[in-house]
Amino acid sequence: MTETTLLLTGMPRSAAYDELVPQVASVLSSCGGDVVAEMASVACLVHHAFGNLWTGFYRVVGPSLLRVGPYQGTLGCIDIPFERGVCGACARTRRTIVVDDVHAFAGHIACDGRSASEIVVPVFAPDGDLIAVFDVDSEHKAAFTNDDADGLARVVALLGRH
Ligand code: SME
Repeated sequence: MTETTLLLTGMPRSAAYDELVPQVASVLSSCGGDVVAEMASVACLVHHAFGNLWTGFYRVVGPSLLRVGPYQGTLGCIDIPFERGVCGACARTRRTIVVDDVHAFAGHIACDGRSASEIVVPVFAPDGDLIAVFDVDSEHKAAFTNDDADGLARVVALLGRH
């Protein structure tokens, strides 16, 4: 495999995702349908594309419990109940949540004190079941926009398709 991580900072985000999505699709086609390999590869590619603070998955492991999955960054919290944090809110509502200032979000869980803003995107199995959430954190306030919401939704929609 000759793929390397792309650095996609310094260009409009929508254009960045237009480059990133095909690369993710190409790498996932080599994962043999292994969801851990797929999540690890997505976390790596997205993390290095944008130079985020933390990028990774929390998997649904119970009726209302998330557990950390493949990620890049400093040590993540292990378990997050659906009623806690931005990740829990995403899992409860099954909708993408963009938080411009994590300190203004009631119940935000600070795994890394440098985190200032974040986006969390739901990940669905082909049958519509919620299988995980994808969490991206930045040390800059308001780092994420609707372009990230759209782009990351395109990225995670590639999981479990091979
Ligand atoms: N900030 C998240 C928790 C996960 S970490 O930041 C890696 C939240 O509030 O759900």
